[in-house]
Amino acid sequence: MILVTGCAGFIGSNFVHTWLSRHDETVVNLDKLTYAGNLDNLAAFKQDARHVFVRGDIADRALVAQLLEQYQPRAVLNFAAESHVDRSIHGPGEFIETNVTGTFNLLESVRAYWSDLSAQHKQAFRFLHVSTDEVYGTLGATDPAFTEDHPFAPNSPYAASKASSDHLVRAWHHTYGLPVLTTNCSNNYGPYHFPEKLIPLIISNALAGRPLPIYGDGQQVRDWLFVEDHCLAIETVLEAGRPGETYNVGGWNEMTNLEVVNTICARLNTLRPREDGKSYADQITFVKDRPGHDRRYAIDARKIERELGWKPQNTFETGIEKTVQWYLDHPQWVANVTSGAYRLWVDQQYGQS
Ligand code: NAD
Ligand code: DAU
Repeated sequence: MILVTGCAGFIGSNFVHTWLSRHDETVVNLDKLTYAGNLDNLAAFKQDARHVFVRGDIADRALVAQLLEQYQPRAVLNFAAESHVDRSIHGPGEFIETNVTGTFNLLESVRAYWSDLSAQHKQAFRFLHVSTDEVYGTLGATDPAFTEDHPFAPNSPYAASKASSDHLVRAWHHTYGLPVLTTNCSNNYGPYHFPEKLIPLIISNALAGRPLPIYGDGQQVRDWLFVEDHCLAIETVLEAGRPGETYNVGGWNEMTNLEVVNTICARLNTLRPREDGKSYADQITFVKDRPGHDRRYAIDARKIERELGWKPQNTFETGIEKTVQWYLDHPQWVANVTSGAYRLWVDQQYGQS
């Protein structure tokens, strides 16, 4: 039995899919169902006893204590977070609530449970914290990629809240001996990705005939990883990672935003040509830049490769092909999440440049 948090969201729901395709071990999924939580992502497990869904907040100590007592998990994996940088610029409060205070409360609930376990179960227990490369800040064009030793220098409220949570997790190991693991991953993409983030936003806007907004000059670099590879990395770290260690996870796949958007347009031109025969790239619109926009992220993933033998299975070409096809095959999923309301502030902030 494992307890996972935030698994109605993008990466967490993919994790449940990947996990249950490979194991029979039950997953108890604690999720608050914020705007980002979507039970459609888990519809495949409605009748599956191996997935138990509980609506609730990671900060609710009484609820978490009750779940730990009831299910006696061998591990807790924390995916729950506010995850969108633009939202954190507009309203940082919720990011502090969930990512910092929520993680603190979760750690305290888990520590109380773990302290009472038998020596054998105590030793085998793991708390795995899912984090981001944004804690390291931004890189210059020729700087080496982030290693696990790179100093923290978070720039957005989101990044700062995740960096805080990483520090709490580290301290709970150092001070109390809680057997923690932290993963710091680069940008994910794939099925069930909420269309406020670049790749699903571009696919859904392109198909709807809307502008494809590029912040600033579009030369910012991200290191893209297909979500299933991230999920397999998390599983690898859970089973073989050394307590107290952090592991960087990335795809060795740096691309500018403009390259990413042009690649998506090219795939759509082939798979679902526009009725007027023109390219989807004609919909590209340069808009004002994101305040404090990090220029480049890149992950040095050699530690997890060397120590745990994990490597991504997908290239960007294979991953983006599956992703574009998934969105073409699931128009109803997109329609269900695209009320448009979540873009109101974004549209005001990022008026045309
Ligand atoms: P998401 O926004 O798609 O999903 C977050 C989930 O957490 C949602 O289901 C939401 O309902 C739930 N949630 C939010 N607050 C909660 C609370 N207080 N209690 C319980 N549940 C709560 O996020 P995602 O993109 O799937 O990211 C998952 C994790 O991975 C986050 O910790 C994020 O920082 C990290 N991460 C994301 C990426 C990426 O590219 N998306 C990359 C690296 C790391
Ligand atoms: O690096 C890991 C991080 O990746 C995760 O920790 C975050 O949870 C996740 O949201 C993601 O953060 P980014 O800010 O990199 O992702 P986003 O999809 O918002 O933006 C990717 C890049 O595209 C970034 O440089 C901003 C740019 N962008 C984004 C949007 C939404 C645009 O140019 N236009 C847009 O409309």
